[in-house]
Amino acid sequence: MPAPRTVLLTGAAGGLGTLMRGLLPAYGYELRLFDSRPVEGEPDALTADLADKDALREAVDGVDAIIHLAGISLEASFDKILKANIEGTYNLYEAARAAGVPRTVFASSNHAVGFTPRPQGDDPLIPVDTPRRPDTYYGLSKCFGEDLAQLYWDLHGMETVSVRIGSCFAEPTSVRMLSVWMSPADGARLFHAALTAEDVGHTVVYGSSANTRLWWDLSGARALGYDPQDDSEPYAAKLIAEQGELDPANPDHAHLGGHFTTHPPQWPH
Ligand SMILES: NC(=O)c1ccc[n+]([C@@H]2O[C@H](COP(=O)([O-])OP(=O)(O)OC[C@H]3O[C@@H](n4cnc5c(N)ncnc54)[C@H](O)[C@@H]3O)[C@@H](O)[C@H]2O)c1
Repeated sequence: MPAPRTVLLTGAAGGLGTLMRGLLPAYGYELRLFDSRPVEGEPDALTADLADKDALREAVDGVDAIIHLAGISLEASFDKILKANIEGTYNLYEAARAAGVPRTVFASSNHAVGFTPRPQGDDPLIPVDTPRRPDTYYGLSKCFGEDLAQLYWDLHGMETVSVRIGSCFAEPTSVRMLSVWMSPADGARLFHAALTAEDVGHTVVYGSSANTRLWWDLSGARALGYDPQDDSEPYAAKLIAEQGELDPANPDHAHLGGHFTTHPPQWPH
């Protein structure tokens, strides 16, 4: 596959979309932006909902690849998740299939496997083929997205890398995040690898930096050519002094999904 040049970035107005708008052009991509909200400072961005099939047809026309970030990124009612994350992702894949877009990078989440007990002591890192155990309707919608991507590979030959993202923020802000943090620069490295690796079919990988306190196996991401450069460890002493060590007896700390398993943050809209 020739290296993609024009890439549709859905969810461009969001936190991760904003970070990637800043970082991905340096890899040579021309980004076409899509979000249901206006993208600040980007008058050419397409402002439309994933429910709008005409807008999606326009969005995918002529692009070489898609990075699909749009959707509800916290817990919400099943009806809302169904519309934005499940039907919305289906609508996008259908538009991509009709337009012949060969490669998508799908923003999956650690919350697809959020009820997986987190490794402790000498436990092995969590492999990518661990049984899925979503911790929310949100996590369930990411399981759907991964399965949809598999179906569109098997049925239509459309390639996807599903990235089970940990937490992509400028800095880790909690002790849990020391294990799941993905620095923005590593996020861009991973998306670039996912866009350019050969013969990915449908590949699921975890997305994080090379954290000293890592919980999951990054070998799948590394096999795509991802070479993470960051580690949350320099932030550890300060965060642990402020918040204390994770207590595995605390249900919020017992699983990969952390507090999403007990009191997930709610989508405000
Ligand atoms: N940021 C992270 O650390 C993280 C971790 C795991 C997974 N993810 C996934 O990555 C993606 C981006 O995350 P984020 O943190 O930037 O979330 P975010 O909530 O900041 O951004 C999501 C964007 O999607 C848009 N959107 C929501 N519903 C839409 C719809 N129906 N049609 C069109 N646009 C819609 C919103 O307007 C918003 O700008 C999400 O899919 C999220 O689930 C992010």
